[in-house]
Amino acid sequence: MSNKLRVLLTGGCGYIGSHTAVELMRAGHEVVIADNLVNSSAAVLPRIEELGGKKPAFYNVDVCDKAALDDLFNRESVDAVIHFAGLKCVPESVEKSTLYYRNNLTSTINLLERMADHGVNYIVFSSSATVYGEQDTMPLREDMPTGACTNPYGMTKHMSEIIIRDAAKASDSLGAVLLRYFNPIGADASGRIGEDPQGIPNNLLPYVAQFATGRRKRLFVNGNDYPTRDGTCIRDYIHVTDLAIAHIKALEFIVGKQGHEVFNIGTGNGYSVLEVIEAFSKACGKELKYEFAPRRAGDIPTCYADPSKAERLLGWRAERDLKRMCEDTWRWQSNNPMGYGK
Ligand code: NAD
Ligand code: UFG
Repeated sequence: MSNKLRVLLTGGCGYIGSHTAVELMRAGHEVVIADNLVNSSAAVLPRIEELGGKKPAFYNVDVCDKAALDDLFNRESVDAVIHFAGLKCVPESVEKSTLYYRNNLTSTINLLERMADHGVNYIVFSSSATVYGEQDTMPLREDMPTGACTNPYGMTKHMSEIIIRDAAKASDSLGAVLLRYFNPIGADASGRIGEDPQGIPNNLLPYVAQFATGRRKRLFVNGNDYPTRDGTCIRDYIHVTDLAIAHIKALEFIVGKQGHEVFNIGTGNGYSVLEVIEAFSKACGKELKYEFAPRRAGDIPTCYADPSKAERLLGWRAERDLKRMCEDTWRWQSNNPMGYGK
């Protein structure tokens, strides 16, 4: 196998997948995308081409669909898969739990089976810090217990980790990397691709960015009585480009190996909601007037990574700071106030 890989990205039209497609292409790899566009737009594809310098092969398929995935693997010879496809809205997962279990688990199982049938041996999976649940100590390390998740979305990530781990244990050829993302924010420095959530954003950064453009009228800070330095929740925000590059490092690590390995992908620094709003205010040059609101159900006070294992074994660490994350988010949001214009 040459150093240049041909990689299938399930969910490659989404926020993290599109940034990873661009970074893979910038590094000289080839990209094939499979996405059913349930939470994304095909309008991202010409922009991936513009930034990556080459048109990615695109298949509008549901990763849960056995025949469609067989057909894709028959047409496309790929060296590895990065499995981003999944539903990710925490409150929706509470209301529609079976939809989340079916989509996120069936896609993972179907993908593993089709990979085995077609001789594709390497997978990198999008997991989440949510698998740690609430822990007594920070930072979070990969060897801490997982699975005490507070919502069905988190459970699908935990269960998918187990499914992939067990498949790797049983196989003499499968190599798998599970990446536990912390809080991805930011956008490609070009401002041409970025996060484009449907409806009212659940997550802090896309909401703040839309508030700064005037698309959202009020900004609420959920809870100011947490046991943190300013009473608001602390998270480990990571630039999506650093996260995208971590996937390339993960592929370089696993291709040619058998077994499975898990990595935290975060910066190791925690910022409070108020610190993020202040950093964003500086980046966009506007005062952002917020209001305190009650705590959001299920939020934990503090969550940040120990990312040292990724540095040690992958040779990866985050390079972009919070200022850069906010500046790049603002470039994307101000240039594309309605996102991809769905
Ligand atoms: P996203 O919604 O922007 O991207 C996911 C993509 O998967 C979308 O393009 C969607 O259309 C596609 N998809 C969903 N189900 C599919 C299916 N059955 N078949 C084909 N395509 C399907 O989300 P994102 O933020 O880019 O997240 C990517 C992955 O990373 C997800 O698995 C998510 O759970 C995980 N993750 C995200 C975060 C975050 O904060 N963004 C944090 C931790 C983990
Ligand atoms: N927040 C506000 N106002 C808003 C939106 C969010 O104050 O308008 C607060 C939240 O209450 C929380 C903090 O900002 O205190 C961060 O919230 P996010 O939703 O941005 O991030 P979370 O850490 O809660 O959630 C993210 C992912 C989930 C994943 C979780 C754990 O969105 O998918 O990390 O990994 F499960």
